[in-house]
Amino acid sequence: MKLLAIESSCDETSAAVMVDGVLKSNIISTQLIHTEWGGVVPELASRAHQKSIIPVVTEALQKANINKNELNAIAFTRGPGLLGALLIGTSFAKSLALSLNIPLIEVNHMQAHVLAHFIEDPKPSFPFLCLTVSGGHTQLVWVKSALDMEVIGETQDDAVGEAFDKTAKLIGLPYPGGPLIDKLAKEGNPDRFPFSLGEMPGLNFSFSGIKTAILYFLQKEVKNNPNFIEENKADICASVQKSLIDMLLRKTKKAMKEMNCTQIAIAGGVSANSGLRTRLTEMGSELGWEVFIPAFSYCTDNAGMIAMAGHFKAEAGEFCGQDVSPLARYEL
Ligand code: KG4
Ligand code: ZN
Repeated sequence: MKLLAIESSCDETSAAVMVDGVLKSNIISTQLIHTEWGGVVPELASRAHQKSIIPVVTEALQKANINKNELNAIAFTRGPGLLGALLIGTSFAKSLALSLNIPLIEVNHMQAHVLAHFIEDPKPSFPFLCLTVSGGHTQLVWVKSALDMEVIGETQDDAVGEAFDKTAKLIGLPYPGGPLIDKLAKEGNPDRFPFSLGEMPGLNFSFSGIKTAILYFLQKEVKNNPNFIEENKADICASVQKSLIDMLLRKTKKAMKEMNCTQIAIAGGVSANSGLRTRLTEMGSELGWEVFIPAFSYCTDNAGMIAMAGHFKAEAGEFCGQDVSPLARYEL
């Protein structure tokens, strides 16, 4: 089975080729255009996808040493994501599948983030718990099988990636701020400024409080010392990162206990965070969990994970017709 996969849900245009479940190429083109706007501008994202999709697909096929006429199916991200961005990948996948007369496989982007764990060893066995943390989502997912997942806890407001990015903006870092906070946090004192987050009942999360807490804190401090942010950037980053990770791990621990589970996986862009990776590993060895952390290239948006999900769906015979349309919201 030679599968082409396409991802275009946000600001990465990506194409991958998978042959019989083995990833042969995974080309990612990140749109740098959004940096100057402080966030993803949907219309600019759509235009950039339109520009890069053919070169990215061509490169993915070349790297895998596959001619398009050899393809057996095309998988694409149907949602969730920015509708205009999804439309580019969906329309491209549909047209190419039509011209090659091969079937289409529609993929849920959040399911694909979880299934990124099956691209390379070590792979978790079913069932397991996955903490999916990205720019748009924060979910605790009970993974019963490759295609049967249940969200048992999620954010009631902002996603944790959004909390990282908004905090970064407040201290003058460019978009996306998550990786920059991660970098600066390594040189800072995480206990210097304790920021408190509102506690949600059960397994749900809330991250919108931290933005306001930091805003008020910074306004107060800058009034006394205009150079406060510049002088304390690393400590602010380390402290914010610690508060966000504390919340993620508190709920993860609770969920693991409730599900009587010993395997935990993390997925999504924020799973690239070095603080989260280290602390989850430590918590795992303390509590006897098996911890699954994806390679950096499979954390943030990539078509390799769409190919993996497409592979499982093809095995289950789950193809879709040419009448499929993208979905900005798409529940697991
Ligand atoms: O999964 P992803 O690439 O796109 C979405 O589906 O949203 O996640 C992007 C998010 C952004 O908020 C970005 O700041 C965050 O992941 N991120 C990080 C790190 N790398 C990416 N956040 C914290 N630390 C990182 N190292
Ligand atoms: Zn994503």
